[in-house]
Amino acid sequence: MSRPPALVTRPLGGEIMAFLAVRCDVEVPDEDRAMPREELLERLAGKHGVLAMLTDRIDDEALDAAGPLLRVVANHAVGYDNVDVAACTRRGVVVTNTPDVLTDATADMTWGLILAASRRIAEGDRLVRSGSPWEWSPGFMLGREVTGKMLGVVGFGRIGRAVARRAVGFSMRVLAHTRTPPEDREDVELVGFDDLLAESDVCSIHLPLSDETRHRFGARELALMKETAVLVNTSRGPIVDEAALATALASGEIAGAGLDVYDREPEVHPALLALENVVLAPHLGSATVETRAAMGMLAARNLVAVLSGERPPTPVNPEALG
Ligand code: DGY
Repeated sequence: MSRPPALVTRPLGGEIMAFLAVRCDVEVPDEDRAMPREELLERLAGKHGVLAMLTDRIDDEALDAAGPLLRVVANHAVGYDNVDVAACTRRGVVVTNTPDVLTDATADMTWGLILAASRRIAEGDRLVRSGSPWEWSPGFMLGREVTGKMLGVVGFGRIGRAVARRAVGFSMRVLAHTRTPPEDREDVELVGFDDLLAESDVCSIHLPLSDETRHRFGARELALMKETAVLVNTSRGPIVDEAALATALASGEIAGAGLDVYDREPEVHPALLALENVVLAPHLGSATVETRAAMGMLAARNLVAVLSGERPPTPVNPEALG
């Protein structure tokens, strides 16, 4: 029996490719780089499934290029703002993502940024490497403690909750802001957005990107934060207005920031690059060997399930399953 044609837009690990190869007629580029738009549109033609990266925009144009046989977009990410889910649903195309498997890795990375920004770790590393003279002194490169302080978590889904759980180890109190209060509150206090901004010593963003959340953190919100506060974003870059953040960091309106994601990724706002009090990571939230293997395998299982007429493990638009 012929296997359904599927596009994998970037090479994945050997085990994942082997799993796919016996179940689909897989097309995958040789080069490990984000697939150029024209190439994506060309390669999509006639495919029944696509295993897409968060750098691939799957919109009406891409769906038209794929044609009517496309049944599944298996996104290799928990976030799926790169996929026009409504357009997929209209066409009966199932969209899947990779929740759960990256929760711990992303929460750990968030804590890495919280500590790096609060304790000036990246700044200190730059100083040592620069060869500039330095010596220990009572007032040298003082940061701020996180122990016993207030953590504010904006967006209380899987990753937000995992970040909050880790705060117990730092004896922190946790405030959370969410539109959908969980049944199990896990020792956090649910508060309004402005109250969270005003009271948090560390504010960590865990929102999905949508029209509603784009630039949710702008000049007004940053002005509400404490002058000693640190802002961390490991969700999606466009949620923060980077120009406003750079101004707030430069003027001392907030003390520091840790960013893993950017508005126009991989570009970083030049005003941020010039500041010492922001830690800049290159979208490493889920970047561990274990998590990336699990994400790839979950995306592959989602793809194969839909192409075999089965329910995928993690659908985003189950209504498209029919
Ligand atoms: C995701 O899965 O959405 C992450 O951003 C990937 O690192």
